[in-house]
Amino acid sequence: MATFVLFGGTGDLAKRKIIPALFSAFVNCRVDKDFSFIGAAREKIDDAEFRKRVEASITTYASKDGAPDPEKVQAFLALTFYAKIDAREATDFESLKQRLHTSETNATLFYLATGPDIFIPIVEQLSKHGLVEGNARVVVEKPLGRDAQSAKEINQSLRCYLKENQIYRIDHYLGKEMVQNLLALRFANLFLEPLWNRKWIQDVQISIAEQVGVETRGDFYDHTGALRDMVQNHLLQLVSIVAMEPPVNANPDAIRDEKVKVLRALHKFTPEEVSKKTVRGQYRAGAVDGKPVIGYHNEAGVPGNSRTETFVAIRAEINNWRWAGVPFYLRTGKRMASRSAEITINFKPIPYSIFGQSQGPMRSNRLVISLQPEESVELFMKAKEPGEGIRLSDVALNLDFAEASNQRRVESYERLLLDAMHGDLTLFVRDDELSAAWEWIDPIMNAWKNDSEGLKSYIAGSWGPAAASYLLAQNGAAWGEEFVDN
Ligand code: BG6
Repeated sequence: MATFVLFGGTGDLAKRKIIPALFSAFVNCRVDKDFSFIGAAREKIDDAEFRKRVEASITTYASKDGAPDPEKVQAFLALTFYAKIDAREATDFESLKQRLHTSETNATLFYLATGPDIFIPIVEQLSKHGLVEGNARVVVEKPLGRDAQSAKEINQSLRCYLKENQIYRIDHYLGKEMVQNLLALRFANLFLEPLWNRKWIQDVQISIAEQVGVETRGDFYDHTGALRDMVQNHLLQLVSIVAMEPPVNANPDAIRDEKVKVLRALHKFTPEEVSKKTVRGQYRAGAVDGKPVIGYHNEAGVPGNSRTETFVAIRAEINNWRWAGVPFYLRTGKRMASRSAEITINFKPIPYSIFGQSQGPMRSNRLVISLQPEESVELFMKAKEPGEGIRLSDVALNLDFAEASNQRRVESYERLLLDAMHGDLTLFVRDDELSAAWEWIDPIMNAWKNDSEGLKSYIAGSWGPAAASYLLAQNGAAWGEEFVDN
């Protein structure tokens, strides 16, 4: 793909994630020789002003290992341009067309990092101007829609102008190294598969905890909430990969065929079940990492009486032969005690201990796949502590080879941008997956709308409302951090 056009080019996501990812792909010679980058937005600025902003974004966010090479930055800026575009102004698209190379080999990747309300106007204009023919591809950011119905309408409209294989619905969690490693772990090894089911697994926990609050996105966030922002997409994508059946091969559609079956098998809650199996919370003032932080109500752009959730915990169930009866505990929240994204597979306890109860912690075997802050895969087993007598302790077999590898780590946005440029749809979400995810979310959202009592508050810097612990305690389970003997 030669030309990369970024709608929402002056926005927060562009600044923090997309431009740095693009720059990294450029520096590592992963873009085509005739690559160029056009930022598009409504603001009336020129190329020079846009380049200044791009440079600032690269300097602030691009390099974790020191300042970026100034020569490379200048080379990247020389290929960077700006187009003032209002999604509803046909003439703006006419000028964009003039700036684009539209031959077959020079196909364009359009990235819509805007609100979903203008996806269709943009795609309609691109289509009217003949810009999505041939090899053109369109990446659309989440959240795609607000519920099952609006997502369906957006998908239908997108397909009026584009073929399904031109649509790249991005979920950046799918670009994380460990998510792909999970596929390798599950389907390139023999020993896990016989254990990967209701017979041997007690429960599965998927937790994405963030320390940040809503930052500069108060207004957007308040209209979205954690259920739409994180559960509908990132958490459910992780569920589908953990729970899917082995696909027939590693082609995008074979994998997505299996993922969608999991999403369809998720048990849809009745309103009564929603109140028993979900917890929602909102942070109030507290301290994160020892520093005081304000409560959600005082964040810029958030109304003082907002009832939007910043924390969600759910006890989900998958109705199929592999998983019937195995709770999938899902949790996400802002302003939590630490930043971590983890999948924990808790295996069942041994049937009987010949060592008695007093020989150390008896927490069962577990496989912990950590996506961040560090990537790791650890299988916790029991072993004897060295010394006299038998005392058991938890020992982690570390399955991660990352440290041993010299390969450059590719950030999720860069990986996904490159995949879209190379036409690989494996790590993008298909329309049926998206619909199935929304159909599971809708009953929860609707029940919450009708329940004015359910929102709990939690102190910023904690692990969320106590009700989230109770959700697991009812089944004799606990979140990872609640175990004394980890
Ligand atoms: C985004 C959400 O999709 O993911 C944000 O909109 C959230 O609210 C972010 O902060 C988390 O991503 P990561 O990769 O930092 O865990």
